[in-house]
Amino acid sequence: MTVLLRVMTADDLPAVMRIERETFPRDAWTEGMLRGELDDQPRTRHYVVALLDGEIVGYAGLSAAGDQADVQTIAVLSGRRRAGVGGAMLTELLAEAVRRGARAVFLEVRADNPEARAVYDRFGFEPIGVRRHYYDDGTDAIMMKKDLHA
Ligand SMILES: CC(C)(COP(=O)(O)OP(=O)(O)OC[C@H]1O[C@@H](n2cnc3c(N)ncnc32)[C@H](O)[C@@H]1OP(=O)(O)O)[C@@H](O)C(=O)NCCC(=O)NCCS
Repeated sequence: MTVLLRVMTADDLPAVMRIERETFPRDAWTEGMLRGELDDQPRTRHYVVALLDGEIVGYAGLSAAGDQADVQTIAVLSGRRRAGVGGAMLTELLAEAVRRGARAVFLEVRADNPEARAVYDRFGFEPIGVRRHYYDDGTDAIMMKKDLHA
């Protein structure tokens, strides 16, 4: 099955929020937070949705300013994982970071999230630090960085 990616719009928010709440039941972003991100698009943000058979099955967002970019969020419906959707979105975010002149991309990931850490490892992100007890439940955040080579 082919994954289609396109830029996220406000019309996508109901579908995106369903995935957000399913994926992050403890600390889901509100619709207002996502709307705020889209308000900054395309100036400093690049958000995409991923479609399989016309259904939104994932989304991801990048923030970019100057020569740095950050992966803001990435999620795929639980029943659609391990099919290349997350990788396709991450590839697009990294390409956008390059197009915008970023020299490095940063992100934070929960220390207890081996799936996401496996994806980031696979894409060449390296751990650069730990924020102890960063999340509300006391879990550490691992900060990761990928250098982009022009
Ligand atoms: C992280 C996430 C977006 C990955 O999406 P995905 O569509 O499953 O990712 P892909 O299928 O493109 O996987 C890409 C590669 O990452 C690695 N990977 C992905 N999931 C993995 C897992 N559970 N265990 C080990 N490796 C994994 C593999 O190398 C995989 O390639 P392969 O399937 O050819 O072996 C998805 O697991 C998710 O939505 N998780 C919950 C939300 C989340 O944690 N977001 C990140 C917050 S920082």
